[in-house]
Parts: sequence; structure tokens; C-alpha cells
Amino acid sequence: MLSVEADKDLCGATTFGVPARCEYYAQADSVETLRDAIGLARTRGLSWRVLGEGSNVLLTGNVPGMIIRIAIPGIRFESVGDDSFLIRAGAGVNWHTLVRTCLDRDLYGLENLALIPGSVGAAPVQNIGAYGVELSDLFESVEVLDGVTGQLRTLYADDCRFGYRDSVFKQELAGRYVVTQLAVRLSTVPDPVLRYPALTAALAEHDLTPTPRHVFDAVCAIRRSKLPDPERIGNAGSFFRNPVLSRARYGALQERLQSRHGALPFFPVPGSDAVKVPAAWLIEQAGWKGFRDGDAGVHDRQALVLVNHGRATGEEIARLARRIADDVAEQFDVRLEPEVRIL
Ligand code: EPU
Repeated sequence: MLSVEADKDLCGATTFGVPARCEYYAQADSVETLRDAIGLARTRGLSWRVLGEGSNVLLTGNVPGMIIRIAIPGIRFESVGDDSFLIRAGAGVNWHTLVRTCLDRDLYGLENLALIPGSVGAAPVQNIGAYGVELSDLFESVEVLDGVTGQLRTLYADDCRFGYRDSVFKQELAGRYVVTQLAVRLSTVPDPVLRYPALTAALAEHDLTPTPRHVFDAVCAIRRSKLPDPERIGNAGSFFRNPVLSRARYGALQERLQSRHGALPFFPVPGSDAVKVPAAWLIEQAGWKGFRDGDAGVHDRQALVLVNHGRATGEEIARLARRIADDVAEQFDVRLEPEVRIL
């Protein structure tokens, strides 16, 4: 049954916790109610957009039209061979709940992606990734509802064109397809991915080969030590993407910065000659770490995370983000692009 609220307060609907309202707000807990909500918006001539747990969105004002909160539940497990399972999760399932549930059943692969805030439906949109693993490494398929035709479709990895924090859902299909269900392929055989430097260091104390449970615990501990808990301090994780530079550009930049700032860290980009450089490093070296203007600030333990210390507006946070990006461009000639969706 579809329920719709008018003039809804969205302050608690995003992890930044900034003030905003929307004209209409609907909650879809099934494919049918989602279809009904889109149909209703269309017949009333309203624009519509979907929202998961609001952990990667910055609202800079009131939202016209209808917000549809995706709350489709359910996790199903299907054995598909000796070591392999397909796990199908509704788009409204909390991402960390999915990670924990799979690990509790001794299904491995998601443990590096522990504690990422947000819902299952948002995960493929930006191809979430952390500590050496991206969703695309485990991805099997998504079920999507076409907002134009009302039809359900299944899309496979090739259709989704995953990249670093990128997919077809952020590009040509943005705003058309709504993810209703995600399927990942996991294994009953542990195969921990330990290549991310911070994780390698955290697990170095283990004499024995770390298990997926050790990886899960270590990732949770690292995240808790560096990233602010959105329940206590508003934020949306990394605000900018890490810029990807050609080796030649990286080399020139490194040479220019070496004497004043020391070595510029980098991470190889698999399958290409380019490297990713940490935006956090550029922001910190530019002097912004821990900066605060009113209640809009830069986290003091992770410079890539912008925070709402209490009463900041979305526009104030967006303004701070622009100042930082302009300053980094001026100092280092690298343009930072937001990772967070700004509405
Ligand atoms: N660094 C600094 N100053 C800081 C923080 C980091 O100089 O304040 C430098 C250090 O050299 C450090 C490097 O940046 O080694 C990388 O830092 P970190 O491991 O914290 O990762 P990140 O590049 O800042 C990315 C993702 C995170 C993900 C971590 C771990 C993006 C935009 N962010 O952050 O994802 O958890 O790697 O894999 O790719 C998110 O998307 O919201 C998110 C938190």
C-alpha cells in the first residue's frame, strides 16, 4: 500500500542532517508500490527521484516534486555450484547488514566493504569500494525498474559499465532506472584481499593467515577510528573522488611538490597506466584539515570528509566544498570533483 506525505521534513533523511523539505515523499517497500509512486508522480506532472539511506547526498535546498524512499526488504541465498552462492538482496536492505549476514553464514567476499553507510540499492550506482575491493568484483546482476516503461529488467556487469565510483546509473541511465534488487556472487572458500596498505598494516600482527572475520573486524576498526559516525556528526563519507592522473602528470606533480610537501602518495588503477592520488592528501597539504567555518567543516582525522558540526545548511557545506576545490586547483593544478550527489 502506497503512502504519500506532503511537505515532508528531510532533515533526518540524509546523513549530512541538513535542513530541507520536499513537496511529496513516498515510501516504496515493494516493486509494486515503487511502480505506483512513479505512476502517481507522472499523473500529477511531478518530477521524482529516489533516495536510499541518504548517505551520499547533500541537499542544498528544498526538493521540488516527489522523493521516493526505497525500502524493499529481503535477502535470499541460492547455491550455484560447489563453492559459489548467489545472494539476492532487496534495494532497501542496509548495506552493512548484508555484509554481516553473509559473513555469519560463512559466505565470503564482502568483508572489505564492511560498515559502508547506505542501502543495497545505492551500492551499484556508485560502485562502492573500500580497502582494495569494489562491488564490481562480486557483482552478478541487478534488477531494475524502468521509470519510463514500468518494466522490470535484469542488467549484468557489462551493461552496468562499472568504473571507479561510477556506473551507467550515474551516466546515461541516470534518473531512468531504479535498482530494486542486487545479486552478488560469494564463495564458501575464504580468499581474503589484503593489498590495501592500511589493512595490511592493521593485520600485520596476525601470525596466521587472516580469516575473512579478521578482515571484517580490521576494516570496522579502521573505519571507526578515522571516519565520523553519521549518527553523531553529519557527513557523507568521502566528499570528493580521488583524482586519477596519467603517470606523466603524476611524475611532474610529484617533482614539483616533493621539496615542500614530501612524497605524493598514489595507488595504481588496475587495468590502466594511470594512478589515483588521495584527494585527502591534497586537501590536508593545502591546509584545510580540521578547518571550520560556522558548523561546516573538514573532519580532523580524514581530510576528505566534510562534516556538519550541527546546524550547517547544505548550501554552507557546498560553499566550503567549492572553496576547497578552488584552492586545491590553484595550489596543485588538480581539479577535485564531488563524489557526493549534490541536489
Ligand atoms: N591522507 C592524508 N590525509 C588524511 C587522510 C588520508 O594525507 O587526512 C592520505 C594518506 O596518504 C593515506 C591516503 O590519503 O594513505 C589514503 O587515505 P584512506 O586510506 O583514508 O583512503 P581515501 O583515499 O581517503 C578511499 C575511499 C574511501 C574508502 C578508503 C579505503 C574514495 C573517494 N574514498 O578514501 O571511501 O573507505 O579509500 O579504501 O575513493 C567513501 O567513498 O565515502 C569512502 C569513505
